[in-house]
This record gives sequence, C-alpha cells and structure tokens, in this order.
Amino acid sequence: MEADRPAKRILVTSALPYANGPIHIGHLVEYIQTDIHVRFLRLLGKDVIYCCADDTHGTPISIKAEQLGIRPEELIAQTQKEHLEDFSSFHISFDSYYSTNSAENQEYANKIFGELKQKGLIYQKEVENFYDEKEHRFLPDRYVKGECPKCGAKDQYGDVCEACGSTHKPTDLINPYSVLSKTKPIRKKSMHYFFRLSALSEKLDHWLRGNSKLQPEIVNYVGNWIKEGLQDWDISRDGPYFGFRIPGEDDKYFYVWLDAPIGYISSTQHWCRQHGLDAEEHYWKSRDSRIIHFIGKDIMYFHFLFWPAMLMESGFNLPDNLVVHGFLTVNGEKMSKSRGTFLTAKDFLRRADPEFLRYYYAGNLSHSINDIDLNFQDLQERINTELVANVANFFYRVLSFTHQNFQGTTGKVKDTKTATAWSALFGQVKEAFQSFEYREAVKRIMHLSTLGNRYFQEKEPWKLIKEDREETLSVLTLCVNLVKDLTISLKPILPVFTAAIEKQLNLKELTWKDLDFRLEGHRLGTPKIILRPTEIIFDDIKEDKKDKQDKKDRQDKKHSQDKKHKQDKTDDASGDFGLLNLKVAEVLEAKEHPDADRLLVLQIDLGEEQRQLVAGIRKHYRPEELVGRHIVIVANLKEATLRGKKSQGMLLAGQEGEKLVLVEAPKSRPGDQVTVPGITPNQEEITIDDFSTVKILALDGRVLWDGKELRTGTEPLRCQGIARSRIG
Ligand code: MSP
Ligand code: ZN
Repeated sequence: MEADRPAKRILVTSALPYANGPIHIGHLVEYIQTDIHVRFLRLLGKDVIYCCADDTHGTPISIKAEQLGIRPEELIAQTQKEHLEDFSSFHISFDSYYSTNSAENQEYANKIFGELKQKGLIYQKEVENFYDEKEHRFLPDRYVKGECPKCGAKDQYGDVCEACGSTHKPTDLINPYSVLSKTKPIRKKSMHYFFRLSALSEKLDHWLRGNSKLQPEIVNYVGNWIKEGLQDWDISRDGPYFGFRIPGEDDKYFYVWLDAPIGYISSTQHWCRQHGLDAEEHYWKSRDSRIIHFIGKDIMYFHFLFWPAMLMESGFNLPDNLVVHGFLTVNGEKMSKSRGTFLTAKDFLRRADPEFLRYYYAGNLSHSINDIDLNFQDLQERINTELVANVANFFYRVLSFTHQNFQGTTGKVKDTKTATAWSALFGQVKEAFQSFEYREAVKRIMHLSTLGNRYFQEKEPWKLIKEDREETLSVLTLCVNLVKDLTISLKPILPVFTAAIEKQLNLKELTWKDLDFRLEGHRLGTPKIILRPTEIIFDDIKEDKKDKQDKKDRQDKKHSQDKKHKQDKTDDASGDFGLLNLKVAEVLEAKEHPDADRLLVLQIDLGEEQRQLVAGIRKHYRPEELVGRHIVIVANLKEATLRGKKSQGMLLAGQEGEKLVLVEAPKSRPGDQVTVPGITPNQEEITIDDFSTVKILALDGRVLWDGKELRTGTEPLRCQGIARSRIG
C-alpha cells in the first residue's frame, strides 16, 4: 500500500494554537503527546522534523487587539513569544515554530486557492449574515447570542446550544443580539466564496477507508459525516477582518480556517529554507515523505474533510496519519476558572516540575479520543510512588552501591537469562510507543523497574558482598544495564531527568539501539539523587486567578509559607478515623505461612488477649526480625481466613515503591490505644472496605490522619524511613 512505503523523511505537526490566549494544560495534552512521539522517532534514528506555528487570524484576535488598544500584529508577536516560552519550559522540541501571518503562508494560501479555482472547485454565492451596525462588522457565529431555536435555552451561541447540544445557524436564534455591542443585529447580504466540498465526497471517503492507520472509531465518525452529505464550505469573510485578502478582492479575506492548516506547509518551508531544502520538493509533494498530524477531537471536521480535500485537489500529499486525542478534564470535570482547575502552563510551572505533567499525561494517553483526566491527588501519588519511589530510587540505589563498593566500574553480566527476559519486555515498550499507546508503554516501563527493584532486593548485594564480590558485581552490572535501558525508554517522556541519568551513567545521547549493548567494564559517573517525594499544591489556584499579576509575588511568598503547614495536613482526609480501633501489639512469634510465599503468620499480644494475624510482609521482614516488636493493628476488623489461616486484625505499614515499613510504637505497651485528638475509638466490627476509606498517611516517618498525628498515651507512632505514602 502507498501509505506503507518506507519514508526517508517524516514531518510531524501539532495543531496551531490560537494567538489570542495563553497555552494551558489542556493544550499541553497535545503538544506533550506529539513531542513524545517525535522524540521517540528521533531515538529510533528517523529523519523527522516537528513543525508548528501560531494561528494568528480571525475575529477573536482582532477584537482582542482592539480591546487592548494595540495592532493585531503586536498582539500576535507578544503571544508568540509567550507561547514559545511555555513550550520550551515543557520541553516541546519543535524544529520550526512559525506564524500563519507570514509571507510564506500567504503565498501558499494564494497558490492553493488558485489551484482549486482553476479546477472549478470555487464559486461565489450571496449569503445573508448578521451585521452589527454599531460596530460596522459582520458577526461570526460566536459573536451572536440568543435563545436556542430547539429548546429555548437563553444566551446560546450562534452555532451550537450548550443546553441541548443541537447545532444551528446564527440566523435561527430567537431574539438574537450582538455580543460586541449588545444591540440587535440586522441581516445583511454579501457575496462569499465557496469551496465545492460536496463534489469530493467519494474521493474523501475512499481516502478515509483506504488508510489503515487511522483510528477506527474516527473513520466511522467521519464516514458518517460523509454519508449524511457534505455541504460546500464558505471560505471568505468580509472586512474588517484580520487575515489574507483574497486575490482580486478589495475587502474580502480568507476565512481563518482556510489559511490555518496551510500554516503546516509554511512552517515546514520556514525550516526547509534554513536547511537548503524545499517544503514541496522534500515533504509536501515528495514520494519519500510521511506527514503525521496530531489534533484534538474538536477539530476533526477541518482535518478529515476540508484539509485533505484542499490537499488532494492542489497536488499536495495527504497526511499518512492523523492522531486524534480527547479533551482534558481536571478532577473529573471540565476545566473551570471558578473551580480553580483552569491552569495555564505558567500556573503549573509555578507549582511543579514540568516533567511531572509529561509523565502523568504519558501515563494516561492512549490511541483513543477518550477524554483524559488530570486528578491532582493522583498526579502526586503517581509521581511519588512510580517516578520517585519505583524508578529514581532504584537508579540511585544501584548506582550509589556500585559507586561505593566498586569505584563505579561495572563488571560482567552472568545472569543472561534474566537479561534476555528483560530485553524482550523492552520490545513491548517499543511497540506501545509506536502505536501511540503511551499508557501501555509507561505501565511496561514501571513493571520493568519493579522487576529490577525486586531483583536487587532478593539478591541482597549488601550481604552478598561479604561472601562473593564477583557475584555481587555481576548482579550490580545487570542492574546498571537495566538502569540504562529504562533511561532510554523514558527519554521520550522525561528528556531532562534522563539526561541527568545519562550523565551519572557516563554515557551520552543514548538511542534506542543502545538497548542492545551491554555496559560491561564501564566507568560510571557520580550518582546523585535527582527526584525526591514532593507535595504539589493546587488549591490556591482559585484565589490566584482572582487577584492577578500585582498580587502574585506576595501570594507566592505566602504560598511557600503555607506549604510547610499544608505538608503536615493531608490534602483530602476522606473517611472517618472514628471507624477505627487501633491498638499496639507485641509480636510473640512469627512463622512463614505454609501455603503462601508472601505471607507470615504472627502470634501477637494485645494486653488482655492474644491473637493470630496473617500479614503480607514476608518479602520485607524475616520472621526472627519481628519478634518483640511493638506494632500497630486494626483491632476491630472482621476476622478473615487467608490461605487457610485465621487472621484477627491487620497490621499497619507504609509502602513506598518496593519498600515496606511497619508502623511501630516501641515505648508503648501491648494493648495501648492509638488515638488522634478529639476522636473516640470504635468498638464495632468493620470490614476491610470500611478501613480503606480512612486515609492515613506516612509523612517523613510520622503517621497522620487529617494532618493530626496518631499516638498512644506515651508516644507518636513512627513509620521510619517512609517519606510519603498511604498507610495500609
Ligand atoms: N487554531 C486551531 C487549530 C488550527 S490547526 C490548523 C485551534 N487552536 S486551539 O488553540 O483552540 O487548540 C489547539 C489544539 O489544542 C487543538 O488540537 C485542540 O484540540 C487542543 N486543545 C485545546 N484545548 C484542549 C483541551 N482542553 N484538552 C485537550 N486538547 C485541547 O483549535
Ligand atoms: Zn437548545
């Protein structure tokens, strides 16, 4: 098939953001998704360029400039600067970031329009639109509001009703008014240019169905649009309009959506010029190139119908793939300024490492148009448990152990069986990246890191080194190689973190091919801790939005003071501590469970009684280490039987990645009650589900519920060595 020919050159684009507002975390879904793909292709050694631009034309931009009392050119120059800052802070690696208000773009717009005209695909027709007599301009759909013709809802836009979801023409609205002047608009006729899209239905359908790379759900969707019948497209607007004047006209302009996608070509040309190439010859009309557009689901009509129609009729290449993503929701709802969940790129940057957002989005993105949710709590938990505890911690343990005991020089890998098994799993990571299933890729990377942690833990190099140095070095060498391979596979997602690890590995610019070589007899760099558990606070966004720039500095100072306080409070203390009855217990005896290799069976003293407890801590504690310890148990939990052994209660522990640490109260006596101020312990029996609604946290070794410390009459509880985790 044509689309499967090997490509010499790949062009990747993201949709061009409008130049009338800041980049926000919704936009970033797309730019991060695209950037990960581009970085992945570069890692594979592909010849790829990533082009984008600001989308600068149209009514909203000229109106905003008017309001600010500046020329549109000044507004778009300023916005472009800000967009570029934001993109570079989030490590979006464009090769070309241009503007649709450029000479090149005008040239291509005229050229394509000319081709279409020559083919008889352009005609003129008189249309009637709303006109604001006070403002002396025609009103685009969004600048007319009124009552929905279908359901009667008030204050609906001219194109779509947000109450009932139906679409309509602005002239269908009941009691219409101009958003600009609030006056009633009049109907006025003028001559418009139309693109004969209806004539291209069959060709478009053929293209759509012949491209096996497109998402099936979308082929279906767009296929239905075609089936329902395509309308010709009105591609002109009357002045005043900020855009390109139509050749041969005095005061008619190309509609912004005509020249916007042509911006993909002019941005390519911008790059090509600087590299002695030509956009048409090398990308847009070449047989050896491939074009991939990333877009959001809201602009499918333009990219699956208008744009391919324009391209196919003017002799340009069609895209080989269009990757469509869903919309961002925050904490399960549409982003909203009043809920404090509308975050600009800069809002996010002020609060957290931009790579955290890249990691989080990667972990949620798949090749689907399902919306993706950014949950603030989940973001923090995933960063702390996956990125920090599972990955970064493993890297540091391996590298620092090798540094301390072997002068940072690796030996030879002996356990080739494990090495081969791990390599095979990296093949799956590659496949997942290739098919835009980033969530799957992240899952597999995390799994590999877990395997590495487990391996390290089971081999116990800190003990092994006393008996067999050579074997220890071989274990470490295998682990160092896993660190290298994990680093490679994380490069598309975390360019900065992985660059720091490359330095610690004393390696430069690893590529996907480097998965194949073994790092043996290699001198490593100096290990350093790069990521630590963090608390990310978003609940000040709301206020932040209200009082703007001038108050910001004062706010930020306050924010950092509050932060310490808030760190000690858990951000959402769901669940009622009063459900629980927690008691101190002394371990009298500990044995391995005869039928389960993860479980230990404990006999414990609760002061007035003795009980038996089954606990899944065998990977973390040896039985003899436990005897005599004063642990904390949920004493009112319904009795359960685990693999044939009775368990009367559950012990508390914090878990951070592979590390599990018991909650302890060494100075307290068996049977001592654990409390938080103001809450009486529960005497009734509860289930494990009840228990799991109560959110107890380990934070820097302390144990907290709702920011209050858990304690006995004698001492606060401890969970030594845990920076931050949920207690279970
Ligand atoms: N200017 C047009 C695109 C022209 S392409 C020739 C446009 N601009 S936009 O700024 O509104 O959006 C740019 C991209 O960001 C679009 O693909 C859009 O789907 C995406 N997103 C904008 N807001 C978004 C969310 N809240 N969530 C996910 N993606 C979103 O459309
Ligand atoms: Zn309606």
